[in-house]
Amino acid sequence: MKFFVDTAEVAEIKDLAASGLLDGVTTNPSLILKSGRPMLEVIQEICALVPGPVSAETVATDHKTMLEEGRKLAKLAKNIAVKVPLTPDGLKTCKALTSEGTMVNVTLCFSSAQALLAAKAGATFISPFVGRIDDNGHDGMALIEEIMTIYRQYPHFKTEVLVASIRHTQHVVRAAKLGAHVATLPPNVLRALFKHVLTDMGLKAFLDDWAKTGQSIL
Ligand code: E4P
Repeated sequence: MKFFVDTAEVAEIKDLAASGLLDGVTTNPSLILKSGRPMLEVIQEICALVPGPVSAETVATDHKTMLEEGRKLAKLAKNIAVKVPLTPDGLKTCKALTSEGTMVNVTLCFSSAQALLAAKAGATFISPFVGRIDDNGHDGMALIEEIMTIYRQYPHFKTEVLVASIRHTQHVVRAAKLGAHVATLPPNVLRALFKHVLTDMGLKAFLDDWAKTGQSIL
């Protein structure tokens, strides 16, 4: 399973990239706003830090302008995945960009019917938003299960399921159990994956005992 990080904070990405755990990055207009920086500049910096796909989102809603935006974003770096919304114009743009060899991440997916359309449009990634579904009283992971089941029926679909809007570590574990191809994690969730109280307690006990031996390895 690939791990992307869901942020536009360059310092955070640099730190996580050094761990060797990062396979890519996703951003969106809200994350760009949070970074307080010019989008094109930030995206270029991120692309230089992480060799894997870096999602940069279009903001036009009509096909013609969306395609122009997508082409401009794709020129920023070889590892750009242009993000388009799951709308008729978005999928038309998806088809055009993928046929030009550009990776496309279809975002704002909330149903398996939408995921089916994105695969048919040749999307590189489909992003179902599990957290926002949970927030609205439904089961986001049930959607992932359904999409994985559908995609498995059609081995010619090359679209990867990118689990987005992740809120906690159990979303990641359940996505992995379902065989989802990618999870995009907010940095705090990625860091939380390391945590276990027994690891902390065990390490403390070993270090206390080691100190009592009076020895040193180096
Ligand atoms: C990533 O591609 C999505 O834009 C992001 O995961 C949405 O997350 P949110 O629901 O926490 O805003």
